[in-house]
Amino acid sequence: MADKKAVLKIDGKDIELDVRSGSIGPDVIDINPLYKHSGAFTYDPGFTSTASCESKITYIDGDEGVLLHRGYPIEQLAEKGDFLEVCYLLLYGELPTAAQKADFDNRVTRHTMVHEQMSKFFSGYRRDAHPMAVMVGTVGALSAFYHDSTDITDPHQRMVASLRMIAKMPTIAAMAYKYHIGQPFVYPKNDLGYAANFLHMCFAVPCEEYKVNPVLARAMDRIFILHADHEQNASTSTVRLAGSSGANPFACIAAGIACLWGPAHGGANEAALNMLMEIGTVDRIPEYIAKAKDKNDPFRLMGFGHRVYKNYDPRARIMQKTMYEVLEATGRHNDPLMQVALELEKIALSDPYFKDKKLYPNVDFYSGITLRALGFPTTMFTVLFALARTVGWIAQWAEMIEDPQQRIGRPRQLYTGAPKRDYVKLDDRG
Ligand code: SDX
Repeated sequence: MADKKAVLKIDGKDIELDVRSGSIGPDVIDINPLYKHSGAFTYDPGFTSTASCESKITYIDGDEGVLLHRGYPIEQLAEKGDFLEVCYLLLYGELPTAAQKADFDNRVTRHTMVHEQMSKFFSGYRRDAHPMAVMVGTVGALSAFYHDSTDITDPHQRMVASLRMIAKMPTIAAMAYKYHIGQPFVYPKNDLGYAANFLHMCFAVPCEEYKVNPVLARAMDRIFILHADHEQNASTSTVRLAGSSGANPFACIAAGIACLWGPAHGGANEAALNMLMEIGTVDRIPEYIAKAKDKNDPFRLMGFGHRVYKNYDPRARIMQKTMYEVLEATGRHNDPLMQVALELEKIALSDPYFKDKKLYPNVDFYSGITLRALGFPTTMFTVLFALARTVGWIAQWAEMIEDPQQRIGRPRQLYTGAPKRDYVKLDDRG
């Protein structure tokens, strides 16, 4: 029961609404009874002031630049944990014991292969298809398999589907990459860790032994941790809305991948690197800063700004540190794009336009330089984001299904179209 109330005055009538508090963070005004008592809807395009659900998974304080997963700061998880441990935490709510971790890692490892029929989907794609287009189609196609884990009302089947998704995304992502570059698929190896297995599936070739560099595997694993979940962002909200109708879980994840692809969202890492390559040299930065500030120019600094963070994205700091490690390990410590990125950040953060609008680098700003140094083409960057975010989508999807308040999501609208009018015969239309 809420102990705080808000009163809305509309047409001379006072409407009392419950105000609910979470464990931390902003209160919410429960507007559920509003339409019944006022005949009016709330209006919030882009949901800048709307909480769509109650959740226990991730908390972001945008003003302070804080990101917690089940209460644990991202900085500590990235530094001390590994990705599958974060997956366990997001799915089950607690850090695993040693036995739970070993069992979870083993279960995921033994689900990394995909049905052999899945490889036949790839021959239908053009080789130059964007790997995100391939991911949307191929992950969606998983809903044509695994009929033993699609009864979403069964908690066991939900967990089986969740594990399959987490386990198979690296394999599908690596297949999308291999198909894109015309190399044969490489099967997962059960003696490799999650990130190392992915790098092996991407960069090994049948002709010779491929040893995964442990520094790069650790960096890849940390990058996955940084992208694992992020509250009710656009793609997670897409997965929740798709799942609210009871749709197949694999199809819901495919919907999330489609949404993540956009350059305003997960596609920003690819767009940010392309922007840095277009700027090319430090002396051209002022020209692009001016474009970003020009209201008449649609150009934006990709990798800058965030709907929630009005401070430095904590993931961007960790990504910058990882960038240095990877550039050092790959002998690219003089990468000219890194100089451009560092100088661009410095100039932007001293410019009143960016300071006043609280535009800081986000997770996508440094990830492109890092992923390129790891050996990935820019077209694969958002695929890696989708691979990592799958656990967040799945955890949020499961939380939604288990929420007793859950019902199909069905927003209303402000209608500004034509009022009712009668049909006019073709001959009478002038
Ligand atoms: C991700 O939601 C999440 O949590 C997402 C994510 C996750 O982990 O899931 O964190 C991942 O998507 C990170 C964001 C990646 N996108 C980009 O880097 C693309 C560039 N950034 C922007 O397009 C923008 O900042 C958004 C989309 C991220 C946020 O947009 P908002 O909250 O709708 O803010 P806005 O577009 O209304 O911008 C506010 C003002 C505007 O100026 P005014 O109209 O007020 O004068 O800031 C300006 C914008 O023009 N602005 C920018 C800018 N970002 C915002 N100006 C120049 N360059 C930019 N990057």
